[in-house]
Amino acid sequence: MCGIIGYCGPKPAAPILIEGLKRLEYRGYDSAGIAVGADGNLHVHKREGKLFRLRERVPEDLGGVWGIGHTRWATHGEVNDLNAHPHTDATNTIAVVHNGIIENFTSLKEKLQEEGYTFRTETDSEVIAHLIASLYDGDLETAVRQTVRLLKGTYGILAMHAAEPNVLVGARNGSPLVLGVGNDEMFMASDATALVAHTKQVVYIEDGELVKLTPKSYKTTDLRSREIDKKVDFISWELEEIEKGGFAHFMEKEILEQSESIKRAMQGRLDLEYGTGHLGGLNMANKELLEVERVKIIAAGTSLHAGMVAAYLLETVARIPAQAELASELRYRNPVVERNNIYFAVSQSGETADTLYAMRELKRKGARVLGICNVVGSTIPRESDGGVYIHSGPEIAVASTKAFTSQMTALYLFALIMARMRHMSLEHGLAFIKDLEQVPDLVARIVDRRGEIELLAKKYAHAGNFLFLGRGINYPVALEGALKLKEISYVHAEGYSAAEIKHGPIALINDDTPSFFVVPDNGLRDKVITNMKEVKARRGPVLALAVEGDREVAKIADDVFYVPPTHEYMYPFLMVVPFQLFAYYTAIELGRDVDQPRNLAKSVTVE
Ligand code: F6R
Repeated sequence: MCGIIGYCGPKPAAPILIEGLKRLEYRGYDSAGIAVGADGNLHVHKREGKLFRLRERVPEDLGGVWGIGHTRWATHGEVNDLNAHPHTDATNTIAVVHNGIIENFTSLKEKLQEEGYTFRTETDSEVIAHLIASLYDGDLETAVRQTVRLLKGTYGILAMHAAEPNVLVGARNGSPLVLGVGNDEMFMASDATALVAHTKQVVYIEDGELVKLTPKSYKTTDLRSREIDKKVDFISWELEEIEKGGFAHFMEKEILEQSESIKRAMQGRLDLEYGTGHLGGLNMANKELLEVERVKIIAAGTSLHAGMVAAYLLETVARIPAQAELASELRYRNPVVERNNIYFAVSQSGETADTLYAMRELKRKGARVLGICNVVGSTIPRESDGGVYIHSGPEIAVASTKAFTSQMTALYLFALIMARMRHMSLEHGLAFIKDLEQVPDLVARIVDRRGEIELLAKKYAHAGNFLFLGRGINYPVALEGALKLKEISYVHAEGYSAAEIKHGPIALINDDTPSFFVVPDNGLRDKVITNMKEVKARRGPVLALAVEGDREVAKIADDVFYVPPTHEYMYPFLMVVPFQLFAYYTAIELGRDVDQPRNLAKSVTVE
């Protein structure tokens, strides 16, 4: 979603701002803009569309050593140059960028209009610029503080004033802001990926905090002007991790990285002596874990699918009732929080509003909520009672891939811990670990044969609709296969339990609707084969992911991709990778923007 960057220091600001926005492109946006202060004026340039269009408009010799920039993902008002940020006051002396939604903007706007302020855009954000102007009395920090006290809703804000050179003021409530501390220069951004090219020292701004930057200093205060001591954190990843490094797309890089990222997610967390896992971040003693009677997982999108796989595993392996649910739905159904239940909030970004707000609601009701997140320092892990970082490294492509397999890895380890504390023997625990440890190599073997998937994608890319069908622990994998395909190729795809097609979706079957089946060698294999035959009998093209050696599948399906054999619980890892690759190559075949698909945002920070 929207991205924010700010700079004050000795260097020309515009190239730094545009480079920062480039790093934030992955979040998804539809317009971009910058404001740079020079010679007592603010120079504002904004433009609909991709960044290169903005770059065309920004003069080479703009000058100015401080400024703010923004990539906008439209919520209020259509996508056009005018609605892009930064927004300015009537005299063009104050510029503001804003992430989030101001819920009371209509009443604030009406009041300002009565006072004679004229609005130029349809956005909620413009109201912030006028409010600051109306409250400004020679000190930007004070005016921003007074302004945010009037706002209802969510915001990450960065503001500048033409008369206060090299000063930026930021404020946060619900939309992330992180400060980058450089040598005689300061940066501000909505996420650390925009900073890492300049500095690895960061300070995470919390809700209710305000920060004033100058090139050599930063001061953090609360809304009552009380100073807050902030700790400097260090970004642990390298710049190369957010660069394509020779790959055509981030998505390709991230799919191919999975054998490594899965290994990282289990690194240091396997106990080979006692055949169990070790997840210290849960902050729960074994005695407390033993008392857990039910596990609930809340998440959105791909993270929900990882949670669904894990819920299945928790019930079958650990024999603990477990359920994964859409965070957006849980939040508004007044959920019953029971003693001895624990909740996991699963989120790659750690910022997804639906998941975060559901987590807060659960916590208000007294629940213990643990996070399974990738982005270190993001809001969900900071607000949770404990949790696990999956250590996938930055995931830049909008479509989530490596986070999915690492989220599963972390939750598999949790299931192992819970199972070993209950009925699972040491011998079975060790066998589980052995199977899990083999996953990275098996994933590497699949990825090495990606050319086969590319051919399949070329053959089927022009089909009108797809069904993705799986059962049991692989049912969520089918959902994920469909989600991946529709997200990045815009081909209509639905995921179902293979058993469910006869209850409706089979009506869709025709020669332009391929069905892609997951056929592992488990107890449900024969049932899935029956479903494949049902589709075949109706002249639907059939594709299958099957296990090496399963010749019967090849007799029914038009095309088969074989995965190596593994334990039945490990198939979700092996089956999802071909689906990710299939979506990727289909999108390429159709000429789509793979890393930044239309309308989508990487981190969905609004409800
Ligand atoms: C799918 C995708 C989205 C996210 C969802 C949750 O490829 O990227 O469905 O999975 O928006 O995001 P996180 O995991 O950041 O909470």
